[in-house]
Amino acid sequence: KGSGSPSSAPSARIILRYYASQPPPERKVAILGAAGGIGQPLSLLMKLNPLVSRLALYDIAGTPGVAADVSHINTRAEVSGYASEEQLGQALEGSDVVIIPAGVPRKPGMTRDDLFNINAGIVKSLCTAISKYCPDAIVNMISNPVNSTVPIAAEVFKKAGTYNEKKLFGVTTLDVLRAKTFYAAKAGLPAADVNVPVIGGHAGITILPLFSQAISSSDFQSRQESLSHEDVRALTKRTQDGGTEVVEAKAGKGSATLSMTYGGSIFADACLKGLNGAPDIVECSFVQSSITELPFFASKVKLGRNGIDEVQGLGTLSDFEKEGLENLKAELKSSIEKGIKFANES
Ligand code: NAI
Repeated sequence: KGSGSPSSAPSARIILRYYASQPPPERKVAILGAAGGIGQPLSLLMKLNPLVSRLALYDIAGTPGVAADVSHINTRAEVSGYASEEQLGQALEGSDVVIIPAGVPRKPGMTRDDLFNINAGIVKSLCTAISKYCPDAIVNMISNPVNSTVPIAAEVFKKAGTYNEKKLFGVTTLDVLRAKTFYAAKAGLPAADVNVPVIGGHAGITILPLFSQAISSSDFQSRQESLSHEDVRALTKRTQDGGTEVVEAKAGKGSATLSMTYGGSIFADACLKGLNGAPDIVECSFVQSSITELPFFASKVKLGRNGIDEVQGLGTLSDFEKEGLENLKAELKSSIEKGIKFANES
């Protein structure tokens, strides 16, 4: 050591090494709707996540089988299954992150809004329980219509006096996966080199991918120019209709489950990393927002120890994207208002 080196340096190194070898903090994740098409593979992926120490699986049907099955995997998370409403409190208690894929999925010919009547009630009752048993948890809302279920959750939490706008997220990660995948294929680029923010909401034209901001290597920048306006228009439409593409292909057997699960696990992992203090964790999500005049809006969100660190701006939009933004506002506004009205009237 050079002269004048502080005597604390070696112990600082020891402390650093000590922390580096510590396991990540204890984190409990609860999945509500854990035995469903999304819930089952999501239970698997969360069981594989080393940031999870306890995994609570709750559903009104089929939970014991899923919990027993997943619990045999030799990873860190300790798994418990909860099978009836009386056990919901136990499932939720102590949760850091609650993921909600409970409810019915679409069938061909249905819009996400057609699910409202059933799913709104389910979300309302689950959020009432969250406000009672784990009011500080981060909530990842997957149940559709997300444009309405997130406002419902916010109203339920407000009424209970537990609302924290930094901890309520509509999961829109699947829209981002689709935008990236479709764009990469069209541009002839590796999917891993493409990143496309998706803003607005999570239904039809309210889904607005910002292809003008696709981030990639310099190789990508040069090829980006080769995508015509028609290409971008078609990619936008395909991203907006991505869910319907899957619903039709499944021909009555539900909507996206596997790609959704991958998106949901990425988002939950980002929330956990944020809680644990990892830097620079940014994902798109439908959250309370003042980026536009709408009270909820999807955009890039920086995640931190308290949930949202920052709702990020939209960046520079192309003329086509500006037009898309104006066009989506009326529908998104009415879906948000529908959720708020339901929560306050029912
Ligand atoms: P699914 O029908 O296969 O599973 C739903 C599960 O929820 C079932 O196991 C059911 O027993 C359970 N459930 C129903 N009521 C419940 C309650 N009160 N408490 C706890 N669990 C309850 O449906 P799937 O395919 O898993 O879809 C679930 C939801 O996710 C749907 O609303 C669907 O529209 C939505 N979704 C959202 C996406 C997104 O990007 N945010 C993408 C795809 C689907």
